[in-house]
Amino acid sequence: MPKCHYCEREAVVRLPYAKLNLCEKHFEEYLLRKLERSIARYGMFKKGERVIVGVSGGKDSIVLADLLSKLGSARLLVVHVDLGIGEYSRKSSEVVRRFSVERGLDYFIVRLLDYNTSIPELASSLRSRRPCSICGVVKRYVLNAVALDLGFDAVATAHHGDDISVYILKSFLTQDYDQLYKISPVNPGIKGLAARRVKPFYEFYEFEIEKFAEAKNLMYVSEKCPFKHIGWLEKIIRDLLEKAEEEAPGFKIALLRSHARRVLAVEGRSAEKPKACASCGLISEGSECSFCRLTRRALGYPLGLQVRRSIVSSAGFTIRADSKQA
Ligand code: FES
Ligand code: ZN
Ligand code: ZN
Repeated sequence: MPKCHYCEREAVVRLPYAKLNLCEKHFEEYLLRKLERSIARYGMFKKGERVIVGVSGGKDSIVLADLLSKLGSARLLVVHVDLGIGEYSRKSSEVVRRFSVERGLDYFIVRLLDYNTSIPELASSLRSRRPCSICGVVKRYVLNAVALDLGFDAVATAHHGDDISVYILKSFLTQDYDQLYKISPVNPGIKGLAARRVKPFYEFYEFEIEKFAEAKNLMYVSEKCPFKHIGWLEKIIRDLLEKAEEEAPGFKIALLRSHARRVLAVEGRSAEKPKACASCGLISEGSECSFCRLTRRALGYPLGLQVRRSIVSSAGFTIRADSKQA
């Protein structure tokens, strides 16, 4: 590896889009500045706000929690949803717990098994849906419920630019404009129904997150979820975007920025009237939210209200003993 752009040390990473080779110290400073600028550019949250970080235990969310805690501008609560996927979930919860304790971060673990269910069980009752899409509904619901019921300002998730740019092109190619307009670095909250959702890694590449985790020797779960599924169209788009990025480094960031400009400009004009779920009271497109609908179909009853009640009473959750938020 050549020398760092800013000092005499050996570089640990090359960032073609920024034309920079960086040592470990300057790489961390670079990512912290980039994160700070992304948060400010898209108005994700303000200094001192209370922010939930959704942490699965994989490298992306561990790096996000690590960098946000180093940035120190928000008051963080790490929230992990234990999906009940055997050994994979046991490992993931343990990594999140250990990481949070070591960093002195407050954390909250929501276990589906405490509600006598799990992703494999929900998936086997709902054969028409892929486990990943069920999992997405569950995680989104829990993060939103924790944020609203414990009075947090925003929910941050670790979706990065490599994945988001694939979703943008996929929605465009399938002409799913509803979905296309939902993809945004910031989805504003709706009082009492939905917390603000932010993606601080909107302009981050997966390789830089991975390199950082490696350089810092961060603990994370490297096994992929056994249910992870990538469809054929996503594979084609991913390859295409990789080639474009090789040809013109920074291509994806340019795509993400212009998409954000468009979406943020139309937001508000296209906002549908938000409804409250008849079963749990959180945001819903129809009379019942997708989480309550999904659990009603799989288990015979909607689970939303029960989850919200136990968040408020903290039953079934783990939180750092000296936490003020418990
Ligand atoms: Fe959600 Fe795999 S992480 S199904
Ligand atoms: Zn350096
Ligand atoms: Zn509901």
